[in-house]
Amino acid sequence: MNSEKIAVIGSGTMGSGIAHTFAQYNYEVFLVDKTDELLNKAMLQISKNLDRQIQKGTVQESDKELILNNIHNISNINNLPRNISLVIEAIYEDEKSKTDVFLKLNDLIDANSIFASNTSSISITALGTKSRPEQFIGMHFMNPVPIMKLVEIIRGHKTSDETVNYIKNITTQINKVPIEVNDYPGFISNRILMPMINEAIFALYEGVASVEAIDQIMKLGMNHPMGPLTLADFIGLDVCLSIMNVLYDGFNDPKYRPCPLLKKMVASGNLGRKSGEGFYKY
Ligand code: NAI
Repeated sequence: MNSEKIAVIGSGTMGSGIAHTFAQYNYEVFLVDKTDELLNKAMLQISKNLDRQIQKGTVQESDKELILNNIHNISNINNLPRNISLVIEAIYEDEKSKTDVFLKLNDLIDANSIFASNTSSISITALGTKSRPEQFIGMHFMNPVPIMKLVEIIRGHKTSDETVNYIKNITTQINKVPIEVNDYPGFISNRILMPMINEAIFALYEGVASVEAIDQIMKLGMNHPMGPLTLADFIGLDVCLSIMNVLYDGFNDPKYRPCPLLKKMVASGNLGRKSGEGFYKY
């Protein structure tokens, strides 16, 4: 067991994947959510994902129990131990909720520990200002976390070199590749990905081609593993819209305006896979 303790706040899609990954590399993980029910659901998901890894031969059957036992469930954040080395926040994409959690954590956790946010688009500088700006950083994991190699590391305006080095090192320890970027709207991943998805939606909106044609062209012609509209459904159309709005507001540049069709689909509740219908039916 590694001596460093890791806390993960939020046990949804990303938090459960982050907890899974640190536990797999033998860190003691404290997984926090609002209720025991949500935590049990997350543990069930982690167990299923481990079974998949066992089938593929990337995890040994005999290690499954050990990995699950490395994760402690915490339904009251006040019960976190103080001596956590790294806290990774993965709650809803809402600046006020995230800031409130970090303010609370700032009182609860040792002053020398590091705070990271898995936000897709909120400014790391803004999130870190009210707690511990030098020890605050973005750790943007990709979905599904146990499989995807990249962690985009976002350096806030005041993030120290020590913090960046610590995070790069621990990211390597969990067998992922850290790539450092500066804190500007959308960082790199979403600044490039989302306008591409938005442009695919504009092409559909303007009647240039069908959903299937747009996706096939990008798959077969550009070697993308999935087409942009399939990917949008997978990410969630509400998430795509909120990231486009962050880019639009952050740069004040009309090139980032969200497509009216994307806005209409979100307003109608067609959010992609999670709602059963987006550009495709599920
Ligand atoms: P999710 O909705 O699946 O999970 C969020 C979890 O946080 C829920 O279980 C909720 O109960 C919990 N939560 C909310 N407030 C809390 C609080 N105050 N204390 C403890 N737990 C709390 O969300 P998801 O998709 O896992 O996203 C989490 C973060 O990761 C967001 O910031 C999102 O932008 C980012 N992200 C999401 C990706 C994705 O593909 N879903 C990819 C990369 C980043």
